[in-house]
Amino acid sequence: MCGIIGYCGQKPAVPIIIEALKRLEYRGYDSAGVASLSDGRLLIRKDAGKVDEVIQKHNLASLPGNVAIGHTRWATHGGVTQLNAHPHSDCGGRIAVVHNGIVENNQQLRQELTKLGHKFTSETDSEVIPHLIEDELKSGCSLEQAVLNIAPKLEGSYAFLVMAPDNPAKIVGTRRNNPLIVGINATDYYVSSDALAFSQYTNQVMGLGDNEVVMLTQEGVQFFDPKGNKLAKQVRKLDQSWAESHKGGYQHFMLKEIMEQAQMLGQTACQDGKTFTKIALDILRANQVIITACGTSRYAALVGRYLFSKVGKKFCDVIMASEFGYFADSVDKNTIVIAVSQSGETADIIEGVKAARDNGAQVISIINRPNSILADLSHQVIYLNCGAEIAVAATKTFLSQLAIFYLLSFSMVDAFDEATAKLASLNGEITRVLDWNKSELIKLSQNLKDKNDFYYIARGINFAIASEGALKLKEISYAHAEGMPAGELKHGTLALIEPGTPVVVICPADYTFSETLSNAIEAKSRGAYIIGVSDKESEVYDSWIKLPKVDELLYPMVAVVPLQLLAYYLAVNRGCDPDKPRNLAKSVTVK
Ligand code: F6R
Repeated sequence: MCGIIGYCGQKPAVPIIIEALKRLEYRGYDSAGVASLSDGRLLIRKDAGKVDEVIQKHNLASLPGNVAIGHTRWATHGGVTQLNAHPHSDCGGRIAVVHNGIVENNQQLRQELTKLGHKFTSETDSEVIPHLIEDELKSGCSLEQAVLNIAPKLEGSYAFLVMAPDNPAKIVGTRRNNPLIVGINATDYYVSSDALAFSQYTNQVMGLGDNEVVMLTQEGVQFFDPKGNKLAKQVRKLDQSWAESHKGGYQHFMLKEIMEQAQMLGQTACQDGKTFTKIALDILRANQVIITACGTSRYAALVGRYLFSKVGKKFCDVIMASEFGYFADSVDKNTIVIAVSQSGETADIIEGVKAARDNGAQVISIINRPNSILADLSHQVIYLNCGAEIAVAATKTFLSQLAIFYLLSFSMVDAFDEATAKLASLNGEITRVLDWNKSELIKLSQNLKDKNDFYYIARGINFAIASEGALKLKEISYAHAEGMPAGELKHGTLALIEPGTPVVVICPADYTFSETLSNAIEAKSRGAYIIGVSDKESEVYDSWIKLPKVDELLYPMVAVVPLQLLAYYLAVNRGCDPDKPRNLAKSVTVK
């Protein structure tokens, strides 16, 4: 939701923080701010607006000091205003805090602190943290001890960093159910919500467990357990593909990520066959299998369910992570829960997985981001290995999730190698889909840019692709879009079709073709504008997005790509920034 970063070392700190904020902007982009320590003074600059705007407006680059923290915000408590932007401070302006997450008991803490005479300046939940620390410091303890003392008073999930000039050249941080990772390079020390923030400087990282505390000084990094005992930590190496955060000549990250999908698919498919076969056998043996996920990852899960059933003859259910807790009673030790999450941070998934684990379930996760909370909670993790996805709307990670489900389902019938070979052949097909359709999609997006309602229909394995195509469009273009099984169109939605309403029909030339086309005809006869996504041309289509002929089970992977591109071009034509859609964040770390 929000991104936090701290640097302590020998270099000017603020330029490092500014660079990190730009890399963290995918986590929140409604406000930004920096605090630095220089000559015993705490300098805080913050405002509402995108990172670049705040940098310019407050000339952030001019702030001196070798110790600094920064924040990029996605508002949850309190509007998008300068006062609500982080860093937050105490009554005396001697403490700076940047926070990601939610302090659920903030109202109660605020009341208690107000009674003690504390003055609050923002509407945020985060501001209770510096005020709590203020009281601890007044009683004479060190900054690290203050953090250790106040952390148990905070309910909810959080990661925060704190600095104070009375404890110079020091950053202290802690986390609970929100990520925080430390990076080390000789005498430079970094701490952030995401290693991407500092991965251009170092690939040496150390993780922080729940409720542990870290202290960065110019001499080094020290970890503490919740009781204040010193902890020894192993340094891990970060995968270098996470160091990249440039647009590679494209106008937006989203376009770059759509275009690099074919190549990333190859990386994802490079998995260990033995591990997959073992996981597949565990899935086959389990009494019940539940896949849980949100948003785009859930649509990948729906394709997965279909593949498990069709290839492995194994039925499973897909439950939205935000609803999963309500089914926890029927989860037991004979259940396998497969959690699918690009970020590995989504709060609803973390909560559901914890409940499932408490009931004895085995948890297998499919994750892209390394070092995530979900990974720590899982018995087995499958990584997508498709590199950092920066655009808020998921694209390449969706394709990679589909590839993992494809490999898993074929592993159920001992055909991992066959699946790998089939995925390898898709590389060229995906490139072809993009080449064939780019100009048609640009033209289509210009023609449809003023439409405000779109419907996407498909059958069988492609139904989830209709839903995903619609989700992409509404996320980044702010147009109403709905995806549904084609057969459901006549149970209500047909009433909404007016002359010219765009209906995207995914109808590959497979066993669903005729029935899906009939549904398209029903819509067309009510005046709909039909966009056919198919390898077979038809006079029913007003516009044809051409697919290559592929195996029946691979159509989702070729069909989703032009739908992503259509959403992208529509967003651009409607004047929206596809990389930073309003009201959305890449990691949804609140429930
Ligand atoms: C869609 C999108 C969101 C995420 C959802 C789950 O483009 O970005 O709908 O898919 O928030 O996120 P993860 O996969 O990180 O759990």
